[in-house]
Amino acid sequence: MSKILILHGPNLNLLGTREPEVYGRTTLADIEQELIAAFGDQHTLRFLQSNHEGALIDAIHEARTWADGVVINPGAFTHYSYALRDALAGVDLPAVEVHLSNVHAREEFRRHSVIAPVCVGQIAGFGRRSYALGVRALVDTLTAA
Ligand code: DQA
Repeated sequence: MSKILILHGPNLNLLGTREPEVYGRTTLADIEQELIAAFGDQHTLRFLQSNHEGALIDAIHEARTWADGVVINPGAFTHYSYALRDALAGVDLPAVEVHLSNVHAREEFRRHSVIAPVCVGQIAGFGRRSYALGVRALVDTLTAA
């Protein structure tokens, strides 16, 4: 049984209607339901989506008190938020970075993540399935530890 914080960054509340050709038609609620169905009986999952950097940072700090690890889709913060990176580096929790789209096959600015160096690894390009793969990778990391 692991306790996992699943964070979604800015604009991910619009999933389902936001650029569906890139992100698909699945909503964030659909993704969270899928994760609960797949992992909820074995693991504790807590979710937060925020469009605000500080709210994500506060959740990471608070996770020190209850979580074993973090799965995070930082959205566009991926590419420039040193504050989010420092928050993850500052708590002693393994994190897995996930992206719906293959950020390496898109615009140049998306190819660089300032978050990835403080994560165990990155999963990108599997659409909604990136999240379940991210949870699996985190659980595997926690089990192997
Ligand atoms: C994203 C990729 C980011 O570049 C973008 O800013 C997002 C979504 C993804 O899940 O593919 O908001 O993180």
